[in-house]
Amino acid sequence: MIRRVTYLAILMLLAAAPVLAGVAQTKHNFSSPSSSPNAYFWGAQQVCVFCHTVHNADPTAGSLLNHEMNPGTSYTMYTSDTMDMIQSASPHEGSLICLSCHDGTIAVNSLNNLPGPEGAGLYGSPGGSGLDGSGRISGSSHAFVGTDLRDDHPVGLFYDSTKDLNFHPKTGNSQNYPDKLLDEGLYVECTSCHNPHDNTYSNFLVESNNSSALCMRCHIQ
Ligand code: HEC
Ligand code: HEC
Ligand code: HEC
Ligand code: HEC
Repeated sequence: MIRRVTYLAILMLLAAAPVLAGVAQTKHNFSSPSSSPNAYFWGAQQVCVFCHTVHNADPTAGSLLNHEMNPGTSYTMYTSDTMDMIQSASPHEGSLICLSCHDGTIAVNSLNNLPGPEGAGLYGSPGGSGLDGSGRISGSSHAFVGTDLRDDHPVGLFYDSTKDLNFHPKTGNSQNYPDKLLDEGLYVECTSCHNPHDNTYSNFLVESNNSSALCMRCHIQ
């Protein structure tokens, strides 16, 4: 509850948040063919609305999420004989928010709360080669992740370096690595490596991965 109220307060200050100004210049601005040439929506004028709303958000997701999620979707998780840490049966919030678009099962413009008084529905009509006719990320798009996560870095992972000494131990301080990359301070999720607002380091990475620096925030080798 406290977390949600904080988000609301931050959202109300959004006009004064220069850090977030960048999202309009990225491929996550679906209202603009010049920012997101492969995936945009004719008639859409707002930027944040594809992911956030100030009312009628999905209360289970946090971050005042406006994009529809399908609770019936199940994911095939990464498996490997050399994994030592505990992986949940499904991804957590910090991945589900991304997968709600990137698994290709729900239209990018399928929102809980449209701008204006309409309620839930579709916002604009799809344009660009990365979307199918229904506005979903198409299977041929480079941004398609799908529901089979066996070919992706594991997520839904409870970070515990005592189970594998090739990982940096947690510090207990959320400002330090690797803690600051962990969702809720606990899990490896999409948001460990990606910031959906900022494309400074390309691919929406949270920081530069030159010399695999991002990998080495958690991995020792
Ligand atoms: C493509 C989806 C997407 C778009 C577009 C988007 N956001 Fe977000 N936003 C997210 C996600 C996902 C989170 C949760 C991040 C996390 O849990 O680490 C988030 C979190 C936030 C938060 C909480 C604090 C934070 O940074 O984690 C604020 C505030 C916010 N967004 C504001 C905005 C504003 C303002 C815009 C428009 C200028 C915007 N967002 C556009 C996906 C988006
Ligand atoms: C509202 C739908 C939506 C949400 C939510 C969303 N994305 Fe995206 N994302 C897209 C679309 C559409 C594209 C552009 C695809 C294209 O260019 O063909 C994209 C592009 C990307 C790209 C490729 C950028 C590039 O330069 O090519 C990455 C990486 C990405 N998203 C990661 C994420 C992550 C991680 C999250 C969650 C934190 C997230 N996205 C949340 C719809 C979404
Ligand atoms: C451990 C770090 C890490 C995690 C976790 C992670 N990614 Fe990525 N992702 C990257 C890096 C690094 C790239 C840059 C391209 C590359 O090296 O393949 C990338 C690239 C992408 C791209 C661009 C297309 C491509 O394949 O290169 C998309 C889309 C994407 N990630 C989405 C996601 C989603 C959705 C999740 C959660 C299910 C996720 N990522 C989890 C590190 C990560
Ligand atoms: C936020 C922490 C974090 C970051 C950043 C991160 N990883 Fe990981 N990675 C993990 C954890 C935790 C595991 C699971 C280890 C285990 O269970 O033994 C893992 C597993 C892996 C595995 C599978 C190992 C196996 O045994 O099957 C590979 C490969 C991998 N990571 C590569 C990368 C690469 C490449 C990058 C940089 C793009 C990266 N990781 C960034 C935390 C991270």
